[in-house]
Amino acid sequence: MDTTMNPDEQDPTAESTILIRGGLTRTAFDETAEAIFPTSGYVYGTAAEAEAAFKGETERFIYSRYGNPTVAMFEERLRLLEGAEACMATASGMSAIFASLACLVKAGDRVVASRALFGSCSVIVTEILPRLGVETELVDGTDPDAWERALSRPVAATFLESPSNPGLQIIDLAHVAELTHAAGGLLIVDNVFASPVLQKPLRFGADVVVYSATKHIDGQGRVLGGAVLSTQQYVDDHLMPFLRHTGPSLSPFNAWTLVKGMETLRLRVDASSASAHSIASKLEGHPKLASVLYPALPSHPQHELAMRQMQSGGTVLAVTIDGEKDETFRFLDALRLFDISNNLGDSKSLVTHPATTTHRRIGPEGRAAAGIGESMVRLSIGLEDAGELLDDLVRALDAV
Ligand SMILES: Cc1ncc(COP(=O)(O)O)c(C=O)c1O
Repeated sequence: MDTTMNPDEQDPTAESTILIRGGLTRTAFDETAEAIFPTSGYVYGTAAEAEAAFKGETERFIYSRYGNPTVAMFEERLRLLEGAEACMATASGMSAIFASLACLVKAGDRVVASRALFGSCSVIVTEILPRLGVETELVDGTDPDAWERALSRPVAATFLESPSNPGLQIIDLAHVAELTHAAGGLLIVDNVFASPVLQKPLRFGADVVVYSATKHIDGQGRVLGGAVLSTQQYVDDHLMPFLRHTGPSLSPFNAWTLVKGMETLRLRVDASSASAHSIASKLEGHPKLASVLYPALPSHPQHELAMRQMQSGGTVLAVTIDGEKDETFRFLDALRLFDISNNLGDSKSLVTHPATTTHRRIGPEGRAAAGIGESMVRLSIGLEDAGELLDDLVRALDAV
């Protein structure tokens, strides 16, 4: 919806300007900061105005399940940043992901997805969609032949995460986009790990990009949120009708928090990514670690592809403790600066044991297939001093 109150102003084009001013609209009070509109509905001067709005003859806010001025500012800022035609915000990342698929598929359709997915994404693909009559197939996302085989038959959609949570697998987006299009489907990319500033899936041929805005976009552990970015046609034909009638709307307060989060998104992600890179290189080869996975390290199995697709390695690394679950828990418990949490992309450094938390639900077989061992630890690097974070990790490794 075009909600521009200052129609003469041109859209900003430079990233830093977009992050501060994209979508900015002001009320008659000329406030500096974006306003929060905590309203569920809107009023009409006459019954005829209400009728015209419902007929779609006038463009205006009708009900906050359909649209809200603060939510619209967030959508427009993220749309400009992503370089997409359209953006729809949702209440969480999972509602964005579910909506992006559910609005498109019907019983009898096929969906192909990479196996290395966040636990709840995996549940959508392997349990919820099949219950609705959708055939789904999982492939090893790093194997180009596996994609070619799976996409030699028609699909409605392909869904993947790159980098994946938590194993940081990198998938060739351009290759999968080409195969998906030839199979008649749309490529949907969960870009949460890279964040909208480090990777632009649309430039590699993706059709739809989804976010958990809870992660880097808020990035300060405050609110849940999500977003779907795509063509206007996908929104008009599929997404908007689905969201309007199922209602996973983002609240105005959460939208405002995300709008303000975006102002510092580039600064935060670059600083965390630089620290993650430095920590990963210093941890590599540590005797208590069986492996250190970080896309910007030359030792990462898809390092070159990662560096073609991403501006830097991102804020997350995955380490495997040389030991069993007990030793791994001892490492987590010995950390003092890192908080044990299932979240990521935060200004506070967070540590997660995926096998017992975020990926518990997919079971031992699902974890084995996705390369998630009992001793794998996910480290989300925040904005604290990188030297102090490294000291904390090395001291905790001594406890193993
Ligand atoms: C890759 C990925 N996608 C989606 C989600 C879901 O996002 P949310 O928790 O905002 O629903 C998460 C995190 O929890 C995630 O890590």
